Amino acid sequence: MRADTMQERQQGSESKRNQFGDTPPEEFRKQLHELADWVADFREQIGDLRVGPNDRPGAIRERLPRRAPEDGESFEKILSDVDRIIVPGMVHWSHPMFLGYFGWTSTGPGILGEILTAPLNVNAMTWRTCPAATELETVVVDWLRKWVGLSDEFGGVIYDTASVGIMHALAVAREQAAPATRKLGLTGRNLPRLRIYTSDQAHSSAEKAAIALGLGEENVVRIPSDDQFRMDVTSLGQKIAEDRRNNLQPMAVIATVGTTSTASVDPVADIGQLCREAKIWLHIDAAYGGGFAMVPEYERLRKGWELADSIVINPHKTVFVPLDFSVLYVRDLERLRRVFSLVPEYLRGDTVEAEKNYMDYGIQLGRRFRALKAWVIWRSLGRVGVVARLREQIRLANLLTDLIRKDNRFELSAQPGMGVVCFRWVGSARCADRTPQRGVPASDRKLDQFNSEIVERINASGRAYLTQTKLRGRTVIRIGLGNVLTTDEHLRKGWEIIRETAAAVSEKSQTPKTKSQSNSNQPNAKRNKARLS
Ligand SMILES: Cc1ncc(COP(=O)(O)O)c(C=O)c1O
Repeated sequence: MRADTMQERQQGSESKRNQFGDTPPEEFRKQLHELADWVADFREQIGDLRVGPNDRPGAIRERLPRRAPEDGESFEKILSDVDRIIVPGMVHWSHPMFLGYFGWTSTGPGILGEILTAPLNVNAMTWRTCPAATELETVVVDWLRKWVGLSDEFGGVIYDTASVGIMHALAVAREQAAPATRKLGLTGRNLPRLRIYTSDQAHSSAEKAAIALGLGEENVVRIPSDDQFRMDVTSLGQKIAEDRRNNLQPMAVIATVGTTSTASVDPVADIGQLCREAKIWLHIDAAYGGGFAMVPEYERLRKGWELADSIVINPHKTVFVPLDFSVLYVRDLERLRRVFSLVPEYLRGDTVEAEKNYMDYGIQLGRRFRALKAWVIWRSLGRVGVVARLREQIRLANLLTDLIRKDNRFELSAQPGMGVVCFRWVGSARCADRTPQRGVPASDRKLDQFNSEIVERINASGRAYLTQTKLRGRTVIRIGLGNVLTTDEHLRKGWEIIRETAAAVSEKSQTPKTKSQSNSNQPNAKRNKARLS
């Protein structure tokens, strides 16, 4: 055989190997360097991007190929499409002018932690399938427990989200209220309806959990809150007593430390006392507020935690771990294991000798190595660094509160809590026509529309991103601080944008609509433009 033919054959089989295997190491190294630059550039320049797009639904899909490619494409091409289509189609939660929901947790070390997790790509289902992932999970969960001052009677497990955490907590509460439900289910057993109580400000994950657990969303009883949006404990006691008289069985109370709209904090100690006396499971939803319990001057947030059966904390909201990362703590974690442990035959060998197999603590079998990114970020910041950053959020929230107080066209809608500030444009409407009609006065309804339009216009402009919520039926503007890139300057700029936009909305409502105005409801928006000039 001629030498060149042999070489061709060899090259052929080489390229076949590549076709079936992985990227050749040298090429992979090059791509990684390219990606590293991309990540660093993105992070450095994120403040120059529009915060969010102003596309209609489906617009991004139209720019994407309908069919998956037949043949593989180069990484360069894929990355250029990320720049061209994906990045401009995103709301940039890590942008310093992203002031919506709860401030976001992107940081350099957090990104490094995520990147580091990718090549390891293990399944943390049992100790045997990855001892380091299992043991590190136990370690970081314990670090957080100590940081927030929770007693060692509590053991924790990492889930993706608080919604999943609460569902698992309530599954244990359900087993306690109706033993053997794990085995027999709820139906055909002549059981009373099991009831869950939470405030009218609590997160909808309570109902989601009730749906998933077969308890029924109508069995989540919403208890009224007081003028500071905290659960009214007297009403809670009355509702529980009334339910008992009607042969309904109280199963759990969910108290919130940091509600979604205003970050209000329920009187957990009083609620806990009531739960102890009535032998009802107490779950604390500290998804948002839990992280702030690390701040010494916020120690009051931990009041009553010693009475809880379970607590959920979302480090992906306030302890700088990138999404997703939520920890459920259960007093005597073994109770959680008893509800969910089920070892299929093929995994039996994996479960001997282990101190802990995390697959036993929930419905998930396969589990990401989430603990690694938490370990990287928490080691990088240290407790002092985390607390300093949380204090900064509080400082910025206070700064914004002062700015709002100084402008009498706006009013605060709730006591600012942690990094959350709710307020509302009232303009001169305070003295305007408030002719009472059925339901909401006309001037209030108009103000609701105003406030909603302010938020929508700003979000469409791409200059900042805010949220709106309803408090006592009124639409309010809500700002959630927490992004480490957001500075005084960004906040002041955001406040100017709000004032400008409010003035424009108010002016528009006083001028009769012209044709051109009605066609363009986002005057500042440069549609589909990725970067702000
Ligand atoms: C108080 C509270 N609890 C629970 C949740 C649900 O969190 P997750 O998205 O982790 O399920 C939220 C979401 O914002 C929340 O604000």
